[in-house]
Amino acid sequence: MVVIPSVGARRHAEKVAAWGADAVIVQGGEGGGHTGDVATTVLLPQVVDAVDIPVVAAGGFHDGRGLVAALAYGAAGIAMGTRFLLTSDSAVPDAVKSRYLEASVRDVTVTTAVDGLPHRMLRSDLVETLERAGRARSLLHALRRAAGFRKLSGQSWREMVRDGLALRHGRALSWSQVLLAANTPMLLRAAMVEGRTDLGVMASGQVAGVIEDLPSCAELVGRVMAEAEGVLRGLGPGATG
Ligand SMILES: Cc1cc2nc3c(=O)[nH]c(=O)nc-3n(C[C@H](O)[C@H](O)[C@H](O)COP(=O)(O)O)c2cc1C
Repeated sequence: MVVIPSVGARRHAEKVAAWGADAVIVQGGEGGGHTGDVATTVLLPQVVDAVDIPVVAAGGFHDGRGLVAALAYGAAGIAMGTRFLLTSDSAVPDAVKSRYLEASVRDVTVTTAVDGLPHRMLRSDLVETLERAGRARSLLHALRRAAGFRKLSGQSWREMVRDGLALRHGRALSWSQVLLAANTPMLLRAAMVEGRTDLGVMASGQVAGVIEDLPSCAELVGRVMAEAEGVLRGLGPGATG
C-alpha cells in the first residue's frame, strides 16, 4: 500500500516522512483552508527543502503554468481538487457546478461559521446566515442549530454525537462545536450529492474563481500537459532567438 498524507505545515511533513510515508501532498492555504493558511508558494519550497520523500504540490493549481511552477519549486507533481471537481466527468450535480463556474475569487472564503473549524467554501446564503449568527457561543445556540441541520441530514442524535466525538478526537473542540461538526459531512452531501445549493456547503479552493469551463478529465490532463510542455519549450535554450 502506498501512503501519501496531505499536510499544511513543514513540521507535519517532517513527521509523516519520519513515520515512513511514501510521499507527501503539501496543501497551501489556497486549497481547502483546513490545513492552514500559508500560501502554496511559501509552503512548497519550505517542505521540499525539509524532506527527502517526493512532494506533491496542491492548492491553487489548474493549468500547465502552475505545473511548471511547482516543478521549478522542486515538487514531483501537482494534485488538483477543485479543477477535477469542475469537469464533465465529475458526478456533482450541474446546478452545483454552475455555482462554482459563476464564482469569482472573492466568492470563495474560509469560514469557521459552520462548525468552528476553518473550511474554504463558496460564499452562499447559508454561509452568510451562519456568519451573521456568529459562532456558536452557547450550548443552547449549538443545540438549536444542530437540530435544524439534523432535520436536513436525517441523522439521529446518537449518530450525530458519535460523529462529533470522532471529529473531536485530538482537537480542542468545545461541546458546542462537537455537535455542529457532526453535521458538516451531511451539509457537504446536501450540496455535492443532492444538489441543494441553498442548504449545503460547497467546499472549494480559491482557484474556482479562475475556472470557467467543464472539460473531460482526459481533455484537462492533455491540456495541462500541453501547456506545461509549451512553457518549458519557451524557457528552453534558444527560446529568445
Ligand atoms: C469538494 C471538495 C471536497 C474536499 N474534501 C476534502 C476532505 O474531505 N478532506 C481533505 O483533506 N481535503 C478535502 N478537499 C481538499 C482536496 O483534497 C485538495 O487538497 C484541494 O482541493 C487542493 O486544492 P485545489 O482545490 O486548489 O486544487 C476537498 C476539496 C474539494 C474541492
